[in-house]
Amino acid sequence: MSASFDDRPTDPGLTRRRAFVLLGLAVGASACRNGQAATSATSPTPAPTTQAVPPPTGPVDPETTSTSNVSTPTSATVPTTAAAAEPPTSTLAPTISCDDADDPTVETTEGPYFSTGSPQRSSLVEDKDEGTPFTLSGFVTDTQCGPVAQAKIELWHADPAGEYDNAGYRYRGHFFTADDGTFSVDTLKAGLYPGRTRHFHLKVQPPGGSVLTTQLFWPDEDGNADDGIFVASLLMNVTSDNASESGSFHFVV
Ligand SMILES: [Fe+2]
Repeated sequence: MSASFDDRPTDPGLTRRRAFVLLGLAVGASACRNGQAATSATSPTPAPTTQAVPPPTGPVDPETTSTSNVSTPTSATVPTTAAAAEPPTSTLAPTISCDDADDPTVETTEGPYFSTGSPQRSSLVEDKDEGTPFTLSGFVTDTQCGPVAQAKIELWHADPAGEYDNAGYRYRGHFFTADDGTFSVDTLKAGLYPGRTRHFHLKVQPPGGSVLTTQLFWPDEDGNADDGIFVASLLMNVTSDNASESGSFHFVV
């Protein structure tokens, strides 16, 4: 009895051979006799697995933003791709916030210490002076939130001791916005002098446009409340550590 059961499994094998013959695999039929049909039948199976390999090479691309999005169809790479999708988001973080884009920056008085002819430079730092390093950065846009490239920005302010250089160009200079409307300049924190709260003086002029004369202020400065020129909308966003400060502002012209 058991011998007859053992014989049955051999039948399907014969049936398969017939099937191959019926499918016109005449050459394969001869190969079956040599036992090579088994290897040729299994060879198509590894092929798909080899094709599945290329997609995993996709994760090498995630560093390039757009390519990572394209490779998402590969399920195995989804976690990696999701992680790689974050960099572009952080890249977008510095974009201009235009909640108040319709409101041009407020003008204030020029004051008595403006001088023409300042040098163009990206740093007003005077190495001989002791003071708090201060980096002023930000954007210049128009009222439609479009970046203003090549806007001229003039900055002048009191030195750390509260004195203006009215004979030369210490803490005086001008620079230009980049194509995306951004700017950055290094200086030292403006000193205090009697009658005023702490402030920077600036002029901002778009190419071919009119000049905006204004001032920028520090938040949480004791003198702000008693300063007749102080305007809350001209407060910089100031961050600091023990050694330096950074202030940012978005000019709308
Ligand atoms: Fe001043």
